Parts: sequence; structure tokens; C-alpha cells
Amino acid sequence: MKNNKIAVMASGNGSNLKVILKAIAKGECAAQVEVVICNKADAKALNIAKGAGVSHVYFMNPKDYEDREAYDIACAEIIQSAGCVLIVLAGYMRILSASFIHAFPKKIINIHPSLLPAFKGADAVGEALKAGVKVSGCTVHYVTEALDSGQILAQACVPVLADDDWHALHQRIQTQEHIIYIEVINSILNN
Ligand code: GRF
Repeated sequence: MKNNKIAVMASGNGSNLKVILKAIAKGECAAQVEVVICNKADAKALNIAKGAGVSHVYFMNPKDYEDREAYDIACAEIIQSAGCVLIVLAGYMRILSASFIHAFPKKIINIHPSLLPAFKGADAVGEALKAGVKVSGCTVHYVTEALDSGQILAQACVPVLADDDWHALHQRIQTQEHIIYIEVINSILNN
């Protein structure tokens, strides 16, 4: 049988993780979430993963490791020993070390709340609002050493409305994230 095991790394709300798990339960996503790693003890993603019965759910506390490299080595070991073929970053707010990225060439994907290459970085939604763009969206891309710059795999657009605040725009973007992330995961796993 084909190995469709994925690892999801998350730091926050976990809505993308939730949608992936839901799609799997409905038979609409080819993946099997084998590992979930969070770098924040209060990440909602931890409870979502436990609630869905994911077998390997870890809060990895950065304070327990000497440096970023050591932390990432520990994460890589978990992912490799679980036999995951794809690493899905879902709101993982931590820079990955170069050695982690090199250990998984074209095996790490990320979702970013802008139409890359516009608005790279931590607050893409705020930057889009500040710039006054009329259209924004989300991008799924491979993760490389250069921040938010790997090969683009999918994008979706949303309008930016005159009275949008950060949450309104983010929410509109997230409805699209939840569609295109599943599509990309399926297309990678089904190859
Ligand atoms: C998303 O907006 C994603 O684009 C960004 O972080 C957010 C994660 O959302 N990278 P969630 O935790 O999956 O709800």
C-alpha cells in the first residue's frame, strides 16, 4: 500500500489541520496524519490532533533544546521514524534551520496568507491592508531556505473590501486556504 503519512507542524489555531483531518475522515484527502508537532503548549492544534486520534502528537518546547538546530534535529527524528513522506506547515511560526530543510527536499510545504511574492513574512494580512491592495489571497509553496520564496504550487484570490479589518480579511483568505491546501496535498500524494 502507498505510504501517505504526513506530519503537520503548527503553532496556533490549527484550522488548516482541522480541515485536513475532516477531509481525511470524509475520504476527500489522501493523507494520513501520522505526526503533529507544535512548538507552543497552548496551540489549539494539539487538542485538535489528540481529539482526532492522531498517533504521534508532540508539544516540543524550544526551551528544552540548546539551539534551533538541536530542536529541528529532534523534530526531524520524530518525522523520519514515523515514516512521513510529506511535512505540512500549518501556521508554524518558527523559522526552520537550513539542515532541516535540506533533510527533506521538496517534502515540506507551507501555506501563506498572501499572493506571493507579495507580502512575505509574519504579517502578510496586515501588510496587504496597509498597502491598500484590492485583491489578496493565499499561496501554497515548497519550503526552501529563502523565506516564503519556494516554488509556488497553488494560489487563490479573494477581494479586499473597503471596510475589512485584519480578522475579516484573514477569515476570507482562510476559507480559500482550506480548499487549496487539501488540493495540493492530494496532488502531491497522488502524484
Ligand atoms: C494561516 O493563515 C496560514 O496562511 C499562516 O498561518 C495561518 C494558520 O492558520 N501560515 P491555522 O492555525 O491553520 O488556523
